[in-house]
This record gives sequence, C-alpha cells and structure tokens, in this order.
Amino acid sequence: CGITACLRADGSLDPLLTGLKRLEYRGYDSAGIALQNGHGIGLVKCAGEVELLCEQVDEKRLRGTVGIGHTRWSTHGPPTDCNAHPHTDERGTVAVVHNGIIDNYAALKDGLQRRGHHFASDTDTEVVPHLIEEELDGGASNVEAFRAAIATLDGTYAIAAIFDEEQAIYATRMGSPLVLGEGDDEWFLASDVPAFVEYTDRVRYLHDGDFVRITAGGVELTDADGYAVERPLETVDWDPETAGKSGYDHYMHKEIHEQPEALRRTTQGRVNALAGSVDFEEFEPGRFADVTQLHLVGMGTSYHAAMYAASLFATRGVPAYAFMAGEYSLSQPPVTESTLVVAVSQSGETADTLDAVRRARSAGARTLAVTNVVASSITRECDDSLLIRAGPEIGVAATKTFSSQVTALLLLCERITADITGTASAESRELLESVARLPGDVQAVLDTSTAADVAEAYAGSEAYFFIGRGVAHPVALEGALKFKEISYEHAEGFAASELKHGPLALVTERTPVFAVFTGRDDEMTLNNVKEVQARGAPVVAVTSHTDGDVVDVADAVLAIPPTHPDLAGVPANVQLQLVAYHAANRLGRPIDKPRNLAKCVTVE
Ligand code: G6P
Repeated sequence: CGITACLRADGSLDPLLTGLKRLEYRGYDSAGIALQNGHGIGLVKCAGEVELLCEQVDEKRLRGTVGIGHTRWSTHGPPTDCNAHPHTDERGTVAVVHNGIIDNYAALKDGLQRRGHHFASDTDTEVVPHLIEEELDGGASNVEAFRAAIATLDGTYAIAAIFDEEQAIYATRMGSPLVLGEGDDEWFLASDVPAFVEYTDRVRYLHDGDFVRITAGGVELTDADGYAVERPLETVDWDPETAGKSGYDHYMHKEIHEQPEALRRTTQGRVNALAGSVDFEEFEPGRFADVTQLHLVGMGTSYHAAMYAASLFATRGVPAYAFMAGEYSLSQPPVTESTLVVAVSQSGETADTLDAVRRARSAGARTLAVTNVVASSITRECDDSLLIRAGPEIGVAATKTFSSQVTALLLLCERITADITGTASAESRELLESVARLPGDVQAVLDTSTAADVAEAYAGSEAYFFIGRGVAHPVALEGALKFKEISYEHAEGFAASELKHGPLALVTERTPVFAVFTGRDDEMTLNNVKEVQARGAPVVAVTSHTDGDVVDVADAVLAIPPTHPDLAGVPANVQLQLVAYHAANRLGRPIDKPRNLAKCVTVE
C-alpha cells in the first residue's frame, strides 16, 4: 500500500491525488482521501484505481488544506469501498491511513467491540481510529491520543492521521517507509518520494519510532517519548519519469531491490522461531491434518515455485508433486478428498491454473490458492487461500513474487507437515531462524553482488546454461527463464543430474554454466561442474562457500550468505535475477516489457 499526506495553504487535493497516482505501483485495488475542510472531515474512498477516485472526488467537490490519501493492496479483507482507506472512528473525529500489517489487530478489535465500538470494515487498520477515539473520550489531547493508540500496536506500520478540529497532520512509522517532503510553507508525507517530487525535492527520511506533527507553523519531529529528533534534509535529483521507478531505470530492477521488504511482509506475524512453529491467520492449526498428498500447479515462474515446494514436502516425507497447470488439466492424475491441490499464481488469474483448479475441484480434491492478489479469480474458486504479500509487481518478468512465493510455500510446508505429523519437523527451529534472517540475507546479496561484472564478462556467449539439484533445480530453471525472457539470449536450465543424459552435448567453451549450490549435496554438483569444465565451459558458482573446492574450481563466484539449504535457493535466485537484468540491460532490451510476453495470461 502507499500513503500520502499534505498540508498546503493553496489546497491539498491536487498534491494528494498526484501522489496517489505516483504510488499506484505500491497498490491499486482501492483508493481514498480525507480532507479537513474547517467544518469537519470530508472523505471519499472506493474500490478500483485512483482514476475512479478522482472522478468521485470531482463530484463531491472535496476541498481542504490538510489531507491524507491511500492506495491499497489488500492484505486483510477484499478490495471493497468499505475496506478502502482512510478509516475513521464512528463519529468521524479522526481519519487514518496505514501501510503495513498490525499483528495484534484481532485482540485489539475484540476489546474495542466488547467496549461498544462498531466496525465498518474487515481491515486491521480500522482499530487505530477507534483506539484514538477512546483516548479522546478519556480526555486526551489529539497528540496524546495519537501516541497512546500507536503504543498499543504490534506489527509494521506507517500511519498518518487528521482530526476534525485541528489543522494538523500526525504521523509515525515502524517498519514501513515514510518520507517527509518540505516545500515553501507546504509539507508532504508519503511512503515514497515520487508521491511529491513534483512539489519539492527536499526530503527527510524518517526512522522507525519517529513521530511527526505538521501544522501551518512547521514540523515537529520527535521520538516515541516526545523528545525532539533531527533527520538530515536531503535533496533528490529525480525527474518525474525516473521518480515513478524510485530512481531505478526499470521496474524490474526496482522490484529486485524491494525483495527484503516483500519478504518481511511475507513472513510477518507468521513465524514463531522460538517454538519452531508457523501460524497463519488464514487457517486454524490442524486444518490440513488429514491431507495425504499434494499436487502443486502453476505456470512459468509460479511453476518453478511449485517445484521448489514439492521438493521441500518430499524431503519431509509428505507426497507432493508439481505440475505445469496447463498439462495437469490434460492428463489429470487421480485425486481424492484428502488430496490438496495448491494453485500457485502471482496474479490469481492465469487461465491454465484456474482451469486446473476447476478440474481438481470437480474431481473431489481440496484446493488452496497461494497468490499475491486478494479476491482474484483463483482465490475465489479455491477452498482456502494464502497471500504471499509481495506487493504489486509491474515488470513482466516475475522477481519479488518468486521469492515471496517460495518463502510462503516453505512456511506452508512447515505448517502442513506439523498438521499431518502432529509435531514440528526436527529442524524447524533452525529453519525458521533462517527465515527470520532471510530479508537481511537478500539485502546483503543486493549490497554486494558482482552480477553486473559476471554479465559483462560472459556477454556475447553462444548460450547460457543453469544447473542445480534438489531445490536448486527449480532455481536453475527460473534463472534460465529470467535470462531468456529479458535478454532474448538462448538460456536453458537443467537438473544437474540430467546433464550427462543429453545437454552435455551442447556444452562448449562458448556456453557459460551457472551452477547453484545450496549447501546440500554440493559435492555431487561439483562433479557436474568438473564435467562441463572438461568440455571447456566457464563455470559461475552461486554459493555460500568462501573457500574449498567449489570456490577453487569455479571461474567466477556469486556469493550468498550461509543459510539453511532449504532456503538458499532464494538468495541464489536473487543473484541470477541480477545477472539476467544486467545482461539484458547492456543489450538495451525493453526489460519491463519483453517482446511477446504478458504479465498475466488469461487465455489457455
Ligand atoms: C506469465 C508471466 C510469468 C508468470 C506466469 C504465471 O507467463 O509472464 O511471469 O510467471 O504468467 O503467472 P501467475 O500470475 O499465475 O503467477
């Protein structure tokens, strides 16, 4: 989601709507704004894109100098008018916009309802205006009420609020981005700089725990205890074109860099590393206890995520098989009511996957959607659904959604295994500790990757091959898919074991081979590396080894931090995304819209 706020003597409506259009890359299933107009709060919100909001705002003649806005990507409740932000208390004293997830909202909502509050939406956010209202009723001032309400929240948030009787904006953040823009007697707040870069290039990046109060007199910046804090004033030099991509040349590059944040959202509130358990608010413990086998279906990148998950289930003794959804429909394997068919689809709209779900259902199987889009077609058709929470993806080539799919599926695998066996897997605690470290590990890859040099070194090769075993097999396939999709160069992925049964005939000194090592069965993959090197092929190892055989033998290394082998495919894949990106970029390809490809394929 994206939030924005503005205080401006000339009126805040235009900057707020411009800001929301610029933030649509963060979410676009619903939008809304609220303005303080001297007589109270005027509010317009609706399901749909910002364009629709603009039409409704025109009709309602909304005006005001102080306002907040929101563009939504649903995580709690479907995209409806009611669930769109801003949210208010029942009296309309305060309006709130929020980006993030409030982990303890169910308990807070329960308490508020018992104390007589009525809720209008399914969102986690709506607890915030009600908590503020309760503080106000207890005699607190606006600033006290805002701080007290925020102090009760667990989770991640960037929150902005306006009150009906004060020309001021209150805002704070914890784990979600929030930037302050300072113009001449006009102030802006937003999830990202592009929202207001047309109005000012002077920004202060706020830190977790910072509180802001903006009035016509200026900005008060304090910490949680009310003590003044200083954040440096910086100048950004973005033109509006690059601003939409937050300074990156392509959405794909930007989305690759958003992966730490996406993974934080994917795992947030779901992992209890201490107990070695996984909790989903989507379904109660034991829900999958009677599942006897899984069929995971998907297309393209989602199929690779499905393969990855099938391999994880298999190593835990749970029968699980991945199928290309288009093929599954044609020769459907037998299912029973204890077969769980998991539809993996970023968009939730892919025709082949939807068809597979329908056939599986009519044959009597249970169905579960793993998607990025609430209330998408596949979600609606499945018995259950699990959101990967990656945030919207604009580049046609899937990047952050793959990482979030794999991570969500890994958590699902832990959970289903525990449901079936009655206990968490022996390795669960260690694995979940690695999951908690994953956003940081991916950040480390982004900060130190030498993928651009590797892409340069092997530019002009005849073909590019990718190999791996276990979970590194789908990662190799995904590495090759990304590479061919955006560079138009010939790229193929293989199971490392498959090499000598055919593909080795293609290997020459002009075909670099990317070998993915996870820390499991590495010596076997090393043997395959030696086989291709014997045919003259240069080898790029993606590995966490910093010394020893793998590093000694490889011609180049793309380093990943040491992590659990089940999870190593995620940072390894990030390195391969970067290689594909840099290879395509130096060839000048239209990276965000590769020829002949579509983000979402709704025909079979
Ligand atoms: C298309 C896209 C791919 C995507 C696949 C499945 O082929 O170009 O990036 O992986 O569809 O899409 P889904 O939305 O079901 O994950």
